[in-house]
Amino acid sequence: MTPVIETHGLTKAFGGTRALAGVDLQAERGRVLALLGPNGAGKTTIVRVLSTLLRPDGGRASICGYDVVTDAVQVRQLIALTGQYASVDDELTGTENMIMISRLLGFSRSEARARSRRMLERFDLAEAAGRAVKTYSGGMRRRLDLGASLLGNPEVVFLDEPTTGLDPRARLQMWDTVRGVVAAGATVLLTTQYLDEADELADHIAVIDHGEVVASGTPDELKARTGTQTLAVRAVDPGLTPRVSAAVAEIAGVRPDVREDSGLVMATVSDPAMAAAVVRRLDDEGITAAELTLRLPSLDEVFLTLTGHRAEDDTTDGRAA
Ligand SMILES: Nc1ncnc2c1ncn2[C@@H]1O[C@H](COP(=O)(O)OP(=O)(O)O)[C@@H](O)[C@H]1O
Ligand SMILES: [Mg+2]
Repeated sequence: MTPVIETHGLTKAFGGTRALAGVDLQAERGRVLALLGPNGAGKTTIVRVLSTLLRPDGGRASICGYDVVTDAVQVRQLIALTGQYASVDDELTGTENMIMISRLLGFSRSEARARSRRMLERFDLAEAAGRAVKTYSGGMRRRLDLGASLLGNPEVVFLDEPTTGLDPRARLQMWDTVRGVVAAGATVLLTTQYLDEADELADHIAVIDHGEVVASGTPDELKARTGTQTLAVRAVDPGLTPRVSAAVAEIAGVRPDVREDSGLVMATVSDPAMAAAVVRRLDDEGITAAELTLRLPSLDEVFLTLTGHRAEDDTTDGRAA
């Protein structure tokens, strides 16, 4: 089956700045692909190429098999783009914006009305529908923008940093909204600087740094790439914590981190078999574990391992090639 989104060796330079240095991506139908990377990594440039707003210098990109350069007209009929900056009209009400966009998409007056009402309800904006958009909060505006972009039943939805600048509550609401878009059958390409967001929403993550895909895979595959996991053990009897700690130290070959308050003993292990060895040892010593888990590293740790810097820093912004 043809991937819904596909790129091969995409390159783009702005003057002396190399924004894309050969990007390969793929997304299957109905999936969420997250482009995860710091400011200036090239995420928006990729979205602009895929949405036909920007011509690449080299390489190819297609949506549902249509080339974004040579079949741009077809591509535009398949996609919806919502940006970090909402594109709705401030002076109009929510309903007026929706109806105007529906009419531009060619729907009849009554169909435009019906669609607008449904979309405003779906995005939890029914109550605010009669108010001018300039009175909306950032989160409401973002939802209206997304709702408006879905009026044409797009095959692919591009969300460029959909939660940047939103407060935590609006952010969680936006995550729900994105899940709703996927449930409705669309393929989503989402860009984000936030690891938890990619972890939460994406089926597949492409880590972008300096215009290149430096790693890609499912969230769990990426986490497994660092090759380390955290073993956490806690004895039912807190008085046995020192013995648990000694056992873990001997097996893992590192000094464990002991949380005095909870009695949790934690150590980084390179081999998952060490967990089994710890279980056997505790059993031999007659120690009952209340908790014994092997945890994958956080995406934060993964990003640091892969790129040598944290995702959420701005130090690469404005870099020249
Ligand atoms: N229109 C432009 N003119 C000049 N440089 C640009 C332009 N758009 C992007 N860039 C540069 O290209 C690089 C990638 O930018 P961008 O794709 O916006 O990154 P991101 O969206 O990941 O923050 C950055 O170094 C940025 O400064
Ligand atoms: Mg951007």
